[in-house]
Amino acid sequence: MSKYLITGGAGFIGSTLANHLSSDHEVMVIDDLSMGDVSNLVDRVNLTFVEADVTNKELMSEVLENNEFDYIYHLAAIASVADSVERPIETHQINFESVLLLLELIKSKQPDLKRLVFSSSAAVYGDEPTLPKEEESVIRPLTAYAIDKFAAEKYVLAYSHLYNVPTSAVRFFNVYGPNQNPSSPYSGVISILVDRLERHLRGEEVDFTVFGDGSQSRDFVYVKDVIAALLLVGESKKSLGEVYNVGTGQATSLNRLIELAKTNVKSELPINYQEGRQGDIPHSYANISKLKALGFSGHYTIEEGLEEYLKNM
Ligand code: UD1
Repeated sequence: MSKYLITGGAGFIGSTLANHLSSDHEVMVIDDLSMGDVSNLVDRVNLTFVEADVTNKELMSEVLENNEFDYIYHLAAIASVADSVERPIETHQINFESVLLLLELIKSKQPDLKRLVFSSSAAVYGDEPTLPKEEESVIRPLTAYAIDKFAAEKYVLAYSHLYNVPTSAVRFFNVYGPNQNPSSPYSGVISILVDRLERHLRGEEVDFTVFGDGSQSRDFVYVKDVIAALLLVGESKKSLGEVYNVGTGQATSLNRLIELAKTNVKSELPINYQEGRQGDIPHSYANISKLKALGFSGHYTIEEGLEEYLKNM
C-alpha cells in the first residue's frame, strides 16, 4: 500500500485518479472545490479529503510535514484558459506559485518521495502549426494559462536535476469522460455535447453550438487512458525528469465527434453553427511515441471512449 497526495483531487481527472487508487492505497485529496465536487469521490475508506487551496502555505506545509507520501500528483489548477485571461494574477498564484511552493516543501520535507507528477497542458504548444505535437516541438504559449503551465513544468523538471527531487510532467491533450464539469462555455467540448444530448433526450429544447464549421480537430483522450498514463509516468524510472504528451495520437474533427455521439444515443440533437472562436486553433494532435516507449498502450479509441461514456450517461 502506497500513500498518495492528489491536489485537485475532487476535480475531473483528480477524482478519477483518487477513486482508482483508493481501493488499494492510502489517498489524501486537497481541493478547494472551486471546480471540483466531493461527490466525485466515491470510496472514502482509504481517502482523506482536505478542503483547502494549494496556495495556502501554512496548510500545505503542515500536510507535507506530517505525512510521508510515496507519490504526489499535482492536478490543482485554474483549468479554464478563458478564466486565466480574465484573472492572470490569481491564475499565476494557483497555476505557478503553488507549484514552486510544493517543490520547495517536497525538497525540505519529503526525502523519501518516489515521484511528483505535474499536470501540464498541450496549451503550451499554442498556435504553432506543426503536427503532430512532439515534446520537443516549438513551444508558443499564448495565454496566461499556457505561460504558467510551461514555466511550472520547467521548474518541476529543473528540480529533478538541480536538487534531486524526483519529478515528471505530463501534457494533457483533450481529456474527456465522466465527472467533467460542463457548466462553463469553456468546459471541454465533449462534456458540453454530452450534457446537451442528455438534456435533449430528457425532452428539453436544447441545441449544441459549434464554433466554426466543425472541421477543427483535436486529440480526444479518454480519462481512463489518462489515469493509466499518469500511473505509468509516476512509476517508471525512465520518466524521471521528463515530460510526456498524453493523448491518443489521433485527431477527430468536431463534426465526426457529433455524428458519433448522436448515432450512439440515437439522438436528433439540433446543431447550431456559429462564427469560430477567436484564438481557436484548427488542429491539434499528439505524437505519443515517448509515452509508448515507457510501455503505454491506450485502450480507448474515440469510438470506444465515447461509447463507454455515453453508456453511463
Ligand atoms: C483545450 C483546452 C484549453 C487549451 C487548449 C490547447 C479545454 C476545455 N480546453 O482547448 O485549455 O488551451 O486545449 O491545447 O480542455 N467548441 C464548440 N462548441 C462548444 C465548445 C467548444 O464548437 O460548446 C469547439 C471549440 O471552439 C474548439 C473545439 O470545440 O474548436 C474544442 O474545444 P475545447 O474542448 O474547449 O478544447 P480546445 O479548444 O482544444
